[in-house]
Amino acid sequence: MCGIVGYIGKHAAAPVILEGLSRLEYRGYDSAGMAVFDGEKIQIKKSVGRLKVLEELTHGGATMPGSIGIGHTRWATHGAPSDANSHPHYNAEETIAVVHNGIIENYLPLKEKMISKGYRFVSDTDTEVLAHLIDYYYKGNPLEAITKVMHRVQGSYALGIMFAEHPDQIFAVRKDSPLIVGQNEEGCFIASDVPAILKYTRKVYFIENQEVVRLRADHMHFYTVDEEEITKEPVTIEWDANAAEKGGYEHFMLKEMYEQPKTVTDTLSPRIKDQDIVIEELGMSDEEIRAINKIFIVACGSAYHAGVTGKYVIEGIARIPVEVDVASEFRYRDPILEEGTMVVVISQSGETADTLAALRESQQLGHKVLGIVNVVGSSIAREADNVMYTWAGPEIAVATTKAYSAQLIALYLLAMKFGRVRGKLGDTAFHNMLEDLKRLPAQIEMLLANKQRIQRFANRYIGAKDVFFIGRGIDYAISMEGSLKLKEISYIHSEAYAAGELKHGTISLIEEGTLVAAVATQDGLFKKALSNMVEVKARGAFVLAVTNEGNTDIEKAADYVIYIPRTNQYFTNSLAIIPLQLFGYYVAVGKGCDVDKPRNLAKSVTVE
Ligand code: G6P
Repeated sequence: MCGIVGYIGKHAAAPVILEGLSRLEYRGYDSAGMAVFDGEKIQIKKSVGRLKVLEELTHGGATMPGSIGIGHTRWATHGAPSDANSHPHYNAEETIAVVHNGIIENYLPLKEKMISKGYRFVSDTDTEVLAHLIDYYYKGNPLEAITKVMHRVQGSYALGIMFAEHPDQIFAVRKDSPLIVGQNEEGCFIASDVPAILKYTRKVYFIENQEVVRLRADHMHFYTVDEEEITKEPVTIEWDANAAEKGGYEHFMLKEMYEQPKTVTDTLSPRIKDQDIVIEELGMSDEEIRAINKIFIVACGSAYHAGVTGKYVIEGIARIPVEVDVASEFRYRDPILEEGTMVVVISQSGETADTLAALRESQQLGHKVLGIVNVVGSSIAREADNVMYTWAGPEIAVATTKAYSAQLIALYLLAMKFGRVRGKLGDTAFHNMLEDLKRLPAQIEMLLANKQRIQRFANRYIGAKDVFFIGRGIDYAISMEGSLKLKEISYIHSEAYAAGELKHGTISLIEEGTLVAAVATQDGLFKKALSNMVEVKARGAFVLAVTNEGNTDIEKAADYVIYIPRTNQYFTNSLAIIPLQLFGYYVAVGKGCDVDKPRNLAKSVTVE
């Protein structure tokens, strides 16, 4: 979540850093700061709040002259958001400056050790320990000091470091937190993520765990934690810089919702060949697919909700038992992974700490892990045994939409592939499903085109206190995601309930006018869903229903109906979620909320 940008080159560093940090705003932060070497000393400026506060403080970087610098946006973990806790952090002489993403797990004993040696701390952060430790081990050779510290700290870190005594270089270090470096004719860059430097260069190097980079204005050297020099190959980033911009939409979230037809096509089409599903990156033979006797899906947030849909779809189509777990639970509950158990982790960012830990836990237990990941080269993508990418492109809005839609597609493909190989899906059913899949992008487009109707409806609920989302089977999974979309960006309390469970408690919360969004796309469960709607309506609820075209009977039980086009019963989530995303979005817009950057949330949660 925190962002790092560093620059050393021919130009003024501060404006480059500010620009780069602005491209990382989507990661979520509560304060920002910069360190620039002004020719004599390292100058630091930092401040709580949005990046524009730092911009104003430094007049767009003009008051911080110098062509070498590091910058940071912080999302508080150790110590509250404050100027003192913001990065960069100094040593006492102000000759070493450090920015850090991640968490130093053994910072308390290290802090005590440093205090016993006379070091004084001015912040509550774990990062300040690093500044003092580097100072302690620094005897004139920066690389030696940095690697000594790496050998002594536990936890995760991506670091940008500069030394006043070596003003012709900056250092980048990484372990378990994302960091890349890049280069162009006019300088070298450090960044937590590609969009930060895409304006300047497409040539980037992915830094591996426990590697150190020494950046100078015109070249970079890479080292292991044992100070051995290594060579690395650059990667050329193909995607367009505009892909990370708003492109005329009012919010990234709206733009990303509108990108869903393309996302679905991009995730789907490379895997459909000659009327068959080919998932080369699965790395499994038909034999191995037949040997699966259980699947664990592990993820967080919306990716978890995609996983819940995946359970219904895989169990239904391929008849393999599926267990879905929230990653923060899975990793500590000593999961029982027997022979024949396949583990699938799902993550947009590929950096979610708990999901990454769950992946490692599974590997330690001797199981291969398939990652369904959006960010290429992310930690989960690199550590998973096999990676199935969701080709959603960069997603900036904190509330995910297009990446979630792409995750659903990846899961449908897996279910169909497994169903086919295991003989659970006949030719006709398979080909009908393929045709339904191919129709999804146009159907999603149609639903998006209907946005004004949803906007009008949403405007009525700007003042709502509680909203309930109900559904059965796959519709319950859709309800979970619909509810999360609404609450995370509009701050209206909402809950998703398995519709049949309502009368075991929640129904007592229904009052005159309470909005209940009922999803009813599963033909086999339609009548049951209908009676649940009647139950809440009888207690005063206003019922918004989402159902398939033709299910007009619903109008007897619902006050307002949104029809979705017909598709296979296993794919309805891809359509039903669109009006629910739009609903959450327009309620939040109507309330004047910061839609793309909701309070307290981060796009990429790299701490547990
Ligand atoms: C955060 C984001 C969610 C996301 C979840 C999992 O909470 O705000 O939108 O679903 O992390 O993230 P991942 O990158 O692993 O999909």
